[in-house]
Amino acid sequence: MRMLDASAIIVSSVAAQTIDFAHFVNPFIGSEGAIPGYAYGGGDVFVGATVPFGMVKLGLDTYEEPINQSALNGGYTPQGYVTGISLMHESGTGGGPKYGFPAEMPLTSIDDDVNLLDNRTYWQTRVGEDVASVGYFRTHLGSGIKVELSASRHAGLHHYTFPAGSEKNVLVDFSHYLPHPTRSWDTQFYTGGEIETHPNSSTYTGHTSVAGGWSLGSPVTVYVCGEFDQPPNEAQAFKGRNTFPTSRHFRTFDNGTIPRPTFTGSSAKSGPMNDRVGAVFTWSNATVIKSRVGISFMSVEKACAYKNSELSSWSVDKTAQTARDEWNRDVFSKIRVDTSEAANKTRLALLYSSLYFMHLIPSERVGENPLWKSDEPYWDDFYTMWDLFRNQVSLWHLIQPTYYESMIRALIDMFRNEGYLPDGRSGNYNGLVQGGSNADNVLADAYVKGLRGGINWTDGYAAVKKNADVLPFFDQNPVDPQGSLKEGRSALDDWIPLGYVSADRNTRAVSKTVEYSLNDFAVSQIAAGEAPGDSDLYFRKSGGWQLSWDIRATSRNFTGFVMPRYANGTFHETYNITNCGDCNWSDESYEGTAFEYSFVIPHDVERVIELMGGAHHFEQRLDYVFQPNTSGVDLGVNGLGITTINNVANEPDFGTPYLYNYLNKQWKSVERSRQLANDFYFNTSSGIPGNSDAGALNCWLIWQMLGIYPIVTTPVYLLESPWFSDVNITVNDNHTLRIRAEGLDDGDGEQGYYVQGVRINDQEWNKNWFEHEDAGGIMKEGGEILFRLGSEQKVWETGDVPPSPGHQVVDVGGSGI
Ligand SMILES: *[C@@H]1O[C@H](CO)[C@@H](O)[C@H](O)[C@H]1NC(C)=O
Ligand SMILES: *[C@@H]1O[C@H](CO)[C@@H](O)[C@H](O)[C@H]1NC(C)=O
Ligand SMILES: *[C@@H]1O[C@H](CO)[C@@H](O)[C@H](O)[C@H]1NC(C)=O
Ligand SMILES: *[C@@H]1O[C@H](CO)[C@@H](O)[C@H](O)[C@H]1NC(C)=O
Ligand SMILES: *[C@@H]1O[C@H](CO)[C@@H](O)[C@H](O)[C@H]1NC(C)=O
Ligand SMILES: *[C@@H]1O[C@H](CO)[C@@H](O)[C@H](O)[C@H]1NC(C)=O
Ligand SMILES: *[C@@H]1O[C@H](CO)[C@@H](O)[C@H](O)[C@H]1NC(C)=O
Ligand SMILES: *[C@@H]1O[C@H](CO)[C@@H](O)[C@H](O)[C@H]1NC(C)=O
Ligand SMILES: *[C@@H]1O[C@H](CO)[C@@H](O)[C@H](O)[C@H]1NC(C)=O
Ligand SMILES: *[C@@H]1O[C@H](CO)[C@@H](O)[C@H](O)[C@H]1NC(C)=O
Ligand SMILES: *[C@@H]1O[C@H](CO)[C@@H](O)[C@H](O)[C@H]1NC(C)=O
Ligand SMILES: *[C@@H]1O[C@H](CO)[C@@H](O)[C@H](O)[C@H]1NC(C)=O
Repeated sequence: MRMLDASAIIVSSVAAQTIDFAHFVNPFIGSEGAIPGYAYGGGDVFVGATVPFGMVKLGLDTYEEPINQSALNGGYTPQGYVTGISLMHESGTGGGPKYGFPAEMPLTSIDDDVNLLDNRTYWQTRVGEDVASVGYFRTHLGSGIKVELSASRHAGLHHYTFPAGSEKNVLVDFSHYLPHPTRSWDTQFYTGGEIETHPNSSTYTGHTSVAGGWSLGSPVTVYVCGEFDQPPNEAQAFKGRNTFPTSRHFRTFDNGTIPRPTFTGSSAKSGPMNDRVGAVFTWSNATVIKSRVGISFMSVEKACAYKNSELSSWSVDKTAQTARDEWNRDVFSKIRVDTSEAANKTRLALLYSSLYFMHLIPSERVGENPLWKSDEPYWDDFYTMWDLFRNQVSLWHLIQPTYYESMIRALIDMFRNEGYLPDGRSGNYNGLVQGGSNADNVLADAYVKGLRGGINWTDGYAAVKKNADVLPFFDQNPVDPQGSLKEGRSALDDWIPLGYVSADRNTRAVSKTVEYSLNDFAVSQIAAGEAPGDSDLYFRKSGGWQLSWDIRATSRNFTGFVMPRYANGTFHETYNITNCGDCNWSDESYEGTAFEYSFVIPHDVERVIELMGGAHHFEQRLDYVFQPNTSGVDLGVNGLGITTINNVANEPDFGTPYLYNYLNKQWKSVERSRQLANDFYFNTSSGIPGNSDAGALNCWLIWQMLGIYPIVTTPVYLLESPWFSDVNITVNDNHTLRIRAEGLDDGDGEQGYYVQGVRINDQEWNKNWFEHEDAGGIMKEGGEILFRLGSEQKVWETGDVPPSPGHQVVDVGGSGI
């Protein structure tokens, strides 16, 4: 168990007038997996100090053994060796780690047993419990050094308290990064750097460049400006040969023994030799050494300016309080529930921690785009749209309209300057595309809900249209011999002529077909406003999934599934509908079986119901995917402990528990989804079922707790059942959406959360859904949704089922269905 730190920071008198929601946040949720003490299968979350969407996420980098039970993606592991303390991290991501640089490491010894070029000679265990709260982190290293961290948007503050009588050194390691020890093809690698210490040596400047990682990106160069609060007695820059074995395309001495550093005076430069560089600083008298470090993608000068302007104080408490104030103001106070003594503290922890984790990435990098000049904002670390589009963007739309508009402008500017919207992007580099071009869905969701502001929708439409029309350059990715993983839709060579993605000419045919269908629906929705003449074309293509519907495919007594179909029109009849194998890049379906993907057609649920044989059969099949011990596949980290076909821990199935709304049996959606939330989400270090995926899982839980669920690319929200009797949500900057639940009682009896009736803005509501602009524009202007809850499993909705705005009938296999 890790501890929350509620006491380390005294709430200032100014902030005391508002509620300190931050102290409900448990920053360790997701830091541990199912094997106690290990990160494997956990949330892969960042644990450390940061502000909302901060460029700097300051935290530990660790190496946890055995490495097969670890995951270094967020830097933090529960009990791994500390290899450094670095300023940039992702949060919640699977795949090859990204970032973990630039780094410092405090050392009590740099004698002959320590090789500054070999982290294994100085890495540290930790003693006692780590402590974290919003904006603050503390650990005790085995060497006796206490480390405290806080951060501002572009700078980090480190306090190192050395044990009395010890040596006091700080290593600045510019060749440090988070490696991917279990897989080489998408590991990062160091490509060069430079470091210089300055008169009296209390400052250092320079840069480090690291390439690769999950996006398989080109080198990211980060400029660094560090300062210690007192001049060291000694400072020495050093360099050494680069022997990291995976430094492909750059100069390394593969498998060479790790050399000793060569000390080079006040500066060290890697030059064309790609040498590793760093510096070590030594003090003889002080006990506490403070360091503040600014970073920039643009220049050392800018890094220094951030350090000076954002961290004008050396106080870790003040810096943490400033971060915490920002989190309270810009994030937590957007969703206000009762926080009095009577409130359920577990729910407060789940709600505010979830809000925290969904605001860590992407990273806001306005003014930090090294690639092109533009007046548009810049963001990075969309990791990935495949995760974010499901429902997270829809919550940002409501509670972060300014940030969200800025993100969308940045995305469109990437298209303008690089040619494609990203599906994943980190380190200023597009990649990897898991299925469709899901930025289309993101843009469409914003568009249909009326987000305009400073967004140039002419270009926004051009961007999604290009995804739909232009086959991207083939990037020779080692894991997919058939198509680009960098950006765009690699299977347009099938999709355009055939209307589906074939299983013989392309990988991931099932999941790509399903995703491209929604993508083209998304394009049609933006076209409707921006280029009405195009809308029909993309609308028609959005029915492509029906061409992959095999009416004869049977599994577990259910008939009719999306199946892998060959270019010649025949189906892969022996394909295993409940088992997608590795379910990976080169398989026929990605991270989900044909059984699951057959439900993932949010734009035309009506047609899915028809193809599954009508409402009764649809309901039976839906019931079946929630039965225990039905899963035919081991999804490993992506399906931890889940034995149902439905895998609520992974994005494709996020919406499936809510599909009962389309049968006007909303009570079953409420029951299933709440059950899943109760079974898999906890206020503990392992309290999230697998990678948090940039906060996508956390956000799923927030919608669940609010009692609504968005149908992305459409203005529809499904009505479910809230977990709080009163919630005030600030939408559209300064309007209040109030969600109330009368009769909520779901304590020990697990009852009293079924909906008996709903009123929206004092109007009795007979449908289990509403639209963004309904009831006088409730999601823009604010208003009130009142749920009347009780213990009866009641069919209260008498109105129309939720719409299927992409509805069309494509003849399926000449069957007349
Ligand atoms: C990791 O490997 C060890 C053997 O070296 C094995 O005992 C353990 O079960 C493995 N853990 C996982 C999660 O595979
Ligand atoms: C630590 O050293 C090992 C062995 O040289 C290397 O593989 C790894 O990338 C280094 N860095 C970290 C942060 O673990
Ligand atoms: C270096 O330190 C000395 C003594 O503290 C001080 O007098 C001098 O101004 C410093 N030089 C620079 C360039 O900061
Ligand atoms: C480095 O060592 C590994 C493991 O011993 C071996 O598989 C690999 O071929 C070696 N690479 C080179 C370039 O010698
Ligand atoms: C330690 O020594 C440095 C350099 O000699 C000096 O600037 C600093 O003030 C001293 N600190 C303390 C705590 O004595
Ligand atoms: C929500 O806002 C209303 C109106 O201002 C207020 O009466 C109520 O106490 C608020 N509820 C919460 C939980 O903040
Ligand atoms: C949108 O951007 C394009 C250039 O990319 C420009 O020609 C057009 O005028 C812009 N539209 C608006 C409304 O600003
Ligand atoms: C399928 O139906 C048959 C006949 O009703 C039944 O015996 C069998 O158990 C069913 N299989 C499954 C997986 O439900
Ligand atoms: C269709 O293509 C598949 C995959 O290449 C092949 O196995 C099958 O025999 C072909 N069927 C016909 C009728 O051509
Ligand atoms: C499909 O995979 C499941 C799970 O591995 C297995 O039990 C089943 O026998 C397979 N079905 C077919 C038709 O191969
Ligand atoms: C609400 O916010 C918008 C956008 O920030 C601003 O233009 C408007 O003046 C605000 N209205 C009020 C009443 O504060
Ligand atoms: C508080 O909420 C948690 C999570 O929903 C729930 O498990 C627990 O039963 C609730 N406690 C009470 C006393 O209602």
